[in-house]
Amino acid sequence: MSAKKPPHRNFSFRFAEHADIPLIGEMAQKTWRKCYAEIISPGQMTYMLERMYGAPVIAEEIEDGVIWELALKDNMPVGFYSCTFDQGLQNLKLNKLYVLPEAQGQGCGKTMLARVRNLGAGLGARKIWLQVNKKNVAAIRTYERAGYHIEREDVFDIGSGFVMDDYIMAMAIPEWSAVSSKDAAPVGT
Ligand SMILES: CC(C)(COP(=O)(O)OP(=O)(O)OC[C@H]1O[C@@H](n2cnc3c(N)ncnc32)[C@H](O)[C@@H]1OP(=O)(O)O)[C@@H](O)C(=O)NCCC(=O)NCCS
Repeated sequence: MSAKKPPHRNFSFRFAEHADIPLIGEMAQKTWRKCYAEIISPGQMTYMLERMYGAPVIAEEIEDGVIWELALKDNMPVGFYSCTFDQGLQNLKLNKLYVLPEAQGQGCGKTMLARVRNLGAGLGARKIWLQVNKKNVAAIRTYERAGYHIEREDVFDIGSGFVMDDYIMAMAIPEWSAVSSKDAAPVGT
């Protein structure tokens, strides 16, 4: 019997381009409608999706250097992440991490998190951090499994009477940290 392949071998990645913006929007809609159905109201979901995934918003982010990458399985997009590197603070903010409902639980999220970690290490970040809804138990568990811990909690006023009640989770990257070829392929391949 052959040994089980490491999860990253099942997925490939490519940077998102402007032409991918409608696809990202569709993937976000599908994933959000399922995972946040019990967590936030339909009104808040529509409001946040427009603010975070509206085509002009993503286009501007890509122009501004925010990293958007698509995860592919058998050449079909199954997930995406985005992150922003702050050189002054030497940290990487993981803005988004989503896997289509039908592709969840197959190692894609874990592989993307390994990739984000290696990206952070390669850029010289000393820390990666993110916000996650306090009720998003599955995502919190995924982040904990990847080495993140809850740093603090906060309530963010996002306008129109809506708030985000989040944990801020973080993971330190030691200065000596090297990119592990075992965990993820170099970004951009
Ligand atoms: C959270 C999410 C990104 C994880 O991606 P995934 O591909 O489904 O997760 P993986 O298969 O890579 O599993 C990653 C780890 O988390 C654990 N995990 C994943 N889903 C879990 C769940 N529902 N409950 C408990 N643990 C879970 C897995 O056991 C695995 O740990 P292990 O390898 O040590 O066993 C994905 O499920 C998703 O997109 N969810 C909806 C959107 C979302 O919540 N995004 C995060 C917003 S902050």
